[in-house]
Amino acid sequence: MNKYSLLSINDLSTHDIMEILHDARVFNISQQDWHLPMHNALAANLFFEPSTRTHYSFESAEYQLGCSVADFNSASSSVTKGETLYDTAKTFEAIGYKVLVIRHPQDEYFKELEDISIPIINAGDGKGNHPTQCLLDLYTMYDEFGTFEGLNVLICGDIAHSRVAASNKDALERLGANVRFCGPKEFEREGFEMSDIDESIGWADVVMMLRIQRERGATLGEMSDEEYLHQYGLDHRRYAMMKENAIIMHPAPVNRGVEIASDLVECGKSRIFKQMENGVLVRKAVIKRAFGYKPFRED
Ligand code: NCD
Repeated sequence: MNKYSLLSINDLSTHDIMEILHDARVFNISQQDWHLPMHNALAANLFFEPSTRTHYSFESAEYQLGCSVADFNSASSSVTKGETLYDTAKTFEAIGYKVLVIRHPQDEYFKELEDISIPIINAGDGKGNHPTQCLLDLYTMYDEFGTFEGLNVLICGDIAHSRVAASNKDALERLGANVRFCGPKEFEREGFEMSDIDESIGWADVVMMLRIQRERGATLGEMSDEEYLHQYGLDHRRYAMMKENAIIMHPAPVNRGVEIASDLVECGKSRIFKQMENGVLVRKAVIKRAFGYKPFRED
């Protein structure tokens, strides 16, 4: 495996994380586009699961860095002829690609790819990891509060199937934040202690809502959307209980009226679309790193 691969947020020390956030900030404030000196470096985005934000923000970041981008469609690729993930990745390496961004429904799919020598950036593996979503979430929190130390983060919803919850737990706890989880009993996860949402909503500086991952088998029987919102979601009653300076986050896609009331998606406390903007900055920093460039502060 290439040493610049990013498969899990735990591949990064807290120092590495802060360097990536710093680079993302430099990309945000610098007026000029920073092109890879190796102009037109080939990047391939291999998405085996649906994606809008992650896929196209990687693509945007790659173009902004001057990469040439292969947009791979698994449905029209040789995967339909029985080719393995390893052979697909090896093919992109053989034909000259320099970095692979991969999303796949299988937990830790990257274990099969240890013999691939170009960097792999994990854009989500099953319910396992989502390191660049975690980095953009961290960027958004840091941008708002200027520290992780003592920050109270409440993550609500389908904890059991969420790679976003898993990656954020690992990183935030290492960075000194306090993390609580809440959601229906059906969505509890080993190692994640659950709290009551009504007891924790006024405690939180960050309220992060998660979608029910039905494609991973999450189900709540016959519960209606209204009932879910009332029992577990961010409705107006809970919104009124939030701290004055607290913010709302969500990795999206949002199911409006299920985990969050539709008109709260773009309310003053919401950073949901800001997270998407930040995603491009953070992915530029991650791709720059994958190509072996040092952090800006050391240049
Ligand atoms: C998340 C994902 O794919 O894990 N979305 C994203 O990357 N922005 C969360 C989700 O799909 O609910």
